[in-house]
Amino acid sequence: MTITILGIESSCDDTSAAVIRDGVMLSNVIAGQSVHEAYGGVVPELASRAHQQNIIPVVTEVIRRAGIDKSELSAIAFTRGPGLMGSLLVGVSFAKGLASSLNVPMIDVNHLQAHVLAHFIKQTPDSDNAPSFPFLCLLVSGGNSQIIKVSDYDDMEVIGQTIDDAAGEAFDKCAKVMGLGYPGGPVVNRLAVSGNPKAFTFSKPHIKGYDYSFSGLKTSFLYTLRDRLNEDSDFIENNMADLCASLQSTVVDILMAKLLKASNDLNIKEVAVAGGVSANTALRDAFHDYALRYGWKVHIPPFAFTTDNAAMVAITGYFKYMKKDFCLADAVPFSKITL
Ligand code: KG4
Repeated sequence: MTITILGIESSCDDTSAAVIRDGVMLSNVIAGQSVHEAYGGVVPELASRAHQQNIIPVVTEVIRRAGIDKSELSAIAFTRGPGLMGSLLVGVSFAKGLASSLNVPMIDVNHLQAHVLAHFIKQTPDSDNAPSFPFLCLLVSGGNSQIIKVSDYDDMEVIGQTIDDAAGEAFDKCAKVMGLGYPGGPVVNRLAVSGNPKAFTFSKPHIKGYDYSFSGLKTSFLYTLRDRLNEDSDFIENNMADLCASLQSTVVDILMAKLLKASNDLNIKEVAVAGGVSANTALRDAFHDYALRYGWKVHIPPFAFTTDNAAMVAITGYFKYMKKDFCLADAVPFSKITL
């Protein structure tokens, strides 16, 4: 029997829909929201309004691109949380309406689980590069920095997480003090290419176990700028590439050190990365380097699946469908981080 899942993602500022048939992606459409650029961050109320405008065109387009009729859908999967409540409500309400009109089951999806399961999306029927269980997944985004032990599609344990800022937040906040736009992570990444990663030293946390902290790095970065600006008012402009490269290399070192510790302690050499920060080229290079140095088998998502997308929601929905793990029509969104 063919299983065709429509996934809907609206947890933050991207409205996305995707169709997955028997684990193979047929289409994935993402509508971003440029309205936030002027504010230096996502404005929740504007995000939910933009989702309302985008959701019908995005779903219509994704079904058209999949080359199917909506009557062929087996179920509707949607992001239930965590995320912005107003944004989630748009996707959840739309999913409920569509599922009810088509008389198909609804599947609620945890956004964080979906990021991890993005590694199982097949872009062609014969693609075969999914991780094997158990594996470790470094989930790094604007809101999360976690090390997850993944034992099965529905068996994930967070073994380490940030006790303050997320890695993406550290990039964004440091970029902001240098006057770079939002989100700052990709800009830092771009400028770092021509910089010296050893030009500046910023503090690294000393925390037990597999937890992360990025607030000390942020403060250390800020103090370096403050002190150097006293001597040279053009310090930032004159050292932009080196500052970006040094910041980026410090974040990557912090992330990889805990991941290596977890891999050694648990003796798991299958290691994946997910979330927006997994687009960072220095982090991706570090994964390849660790594969050579420590015999890791690494899984790095295609760029299209690093940021929020509905293909990861649809694939999670597919695995839940196989277990008949459906949700009721009274499902409500949740905003808090949980796995
Ligand atoms: O997963 P994601 O798209 O969404 C949320 O967390 O909401 O992650 C966004 C984060 C932002 O902090 C952004 O600056 C960061 O991912 N990011 C990057 C890069 N691309 C996105 N950070 C560093 N280097 C990049 N190339």
